[in-house]
This record gives sequence, structure tokens and C-alpha cells, in this order.
Amino acid sequence: MVSIRQIHPVFVGEVSGVDLSKPLTREEAAAIDAGMDRYAVLVFHGQNITDDQQMEFTKNFGEIENAKGGNITKDNEYRLKKGMVDVSNLDKEGKPFARDDRRRMFNLGNRLWHSDSSFRATPAKYSILSARAPASEGGNTEFADMRNAYDTLDAKTRAQVDGLICEHSLIYSRGSMGFTELSEEERAMMKPVRQSLVRTHPVSGRKSLYLSSHAGTIVGWLMPESRDLLRDLNEHATQRENVYIHRWQQYDLVMWDNRQTMHRVRRFDETQPRDMRRTTVAGEAMTAEQAAAA
Ligand SMILES: [Fe+2]
Repeated sequence: MVSIRQIHPVFVGEVSGVDLSKPLTREEAAAIDAGMDRYAVLVFHGQNITDDQQMEFTKNFGEIENAKGGNITKDNEYRLKKGMVDVSNLDKEGKPFARDDRRRMFNLGNRLWHSDSSFRATPAKYSILSARAPASEGGNTEFADMRNAYDTLDAKTRAQVDGLICEHSLIYSRGSMGFTELSEEERAMMKPVRQSLVRTHPVSGRKSLYLSSHAGTIVGWLMPESRDLLRDLNEHATQRENVYIHRWQQYDLVMWDNRQTMHRVRRFDETQPRDMRRTTVAGEAMTAEQAAAA
């Protein structure tokens, strides 16, 4: 039987009593889905699964998101099969990227607080990350509860953010790392999309701040004033008491709701392999109307 124990004061559940290498019963899938609505992040231990098993597990919660447009890695450089998102530091031959490899520099953007795929018009629902070979030191993933971030805003700020729309793009997140060397084709792929700054969860009805390093500006605001407010909100949202730190053990699997949380990975020894594999459940709706094509 699936049981879930809350392991952080405001969110995150640790799940036991389920084997993710086997097809889930309808009851198990429903219990996990309900756990996601409530805890926003679920931690499973000891799940030694294959890529196919991970994709089967993912499909219990919706369609697998098409990874196209999310990375600068070319199709012929891809290490994993279609449907899997490679968040390792490894090339196709299984070797860690060289220090100056563009793919490594691009992936360093994952050290910034973000919500997966917020740069897509229809952003991701859940992400599911399996630690096949975690870093021996460092490489923790941190999560912030964006519902609690919203709830703990002062009334004036809460009124101010309501109804605001942000523009999100990989150009903004990578640009803030100083990674600006992009081809015309890459730039076209990273065209900004619009997202509401406040989201309402479709099941619980709870509101959350929808922040991400991909958010670069607020529609109708000047750039510096946009960045000023976004930085302030990010600082508020990622205070220690609102953050859960996951220290990976091999075969941990962590799933999170991108609509209700942000996350970031911390530094680790990049000369050693860190093999982490993600699947993503596609979102069901846009959060804002998109700008008309120019
Ligand atoms: Fe991510």
C-alpha cells in the first residue's frame, strides 16, 4: 500500500510501499497523484528502474512532453532515447563534458532557480528525475514551495503581482549566466513566451508564484523595474525555511510539480559522471494568452 510521510515543514512527501519497475494499479497512481497535489514534491527511494520503466511510470500522469527546443544538444549528439531528458554531464560516449563544451555551459543554467519548461507556451506539469549514478559529493537538488511563497507575501505585494504576465525564455536564463553565444537558429528556438506570475492549482485551488530564471521581464513594465521585482520575489521565495534540500542516493526518484515549485541543482565535481535522467509530464494548458505573431 502506498503511504506518504511529510518530510519538510511546508511540503515534500516521502513515499513508501510502491515498486516503480512494475505497472501501477489505478489506486497506486491515484494515491501518487493526490500526493503531488498536496505535497508538490515526492521522494521515492530504492527504485532501480530502466528508461522504459521510467517512461511507463510517467504516462500514468499524462503525456510525455516533447523535449524539442529545450536544449542546444543536437539530435545526433543525444545519449538517451526519445522521451528521456538527459540531465547528466555526459556525452554520447558516456564521458563527462570538457570544461569549455557549449553543452556544459548551457547546462550550468540548471544551477539557477527555475521551473522546468517555463519557456514553453504550455509549460510542464510534473518532472520525474531518476538518479542512476548521483555525484559522490555535492549535486544536491533544492526545491522551493511556491504556494507558501505566495501565501507569505505581504498583502500589498500580493495585490501587486496579481494579474501580471512575465516573458520567459532560455535566452534570459542563459544570458544571466553570461552565456550569450547563440546561433540565429537557437535564438529562433528560444523565442519568449508569456506566463502568468500567479497560478492557481487546478485541484487544490491554491495560488502560487510562478517564477523561474527564464522569466526576464514583465509585460508592460520597463526591464530594470521588472528585474527588480522578480529578484525581490525570488529572494522571498527561496528563503531557507521554504526550501527542501534533496541529497541524492543511487536509485532515488524524485517527482515535482513545476506549477507549484521551483528547483535548482548545486555544484559537484564535474570530472566525475553524474547520470541523472528525467522524464517530463506535459502541461495541460497555457497560463496566459500569447502575444500575436509579429
Ligand atoms: Fe530543471
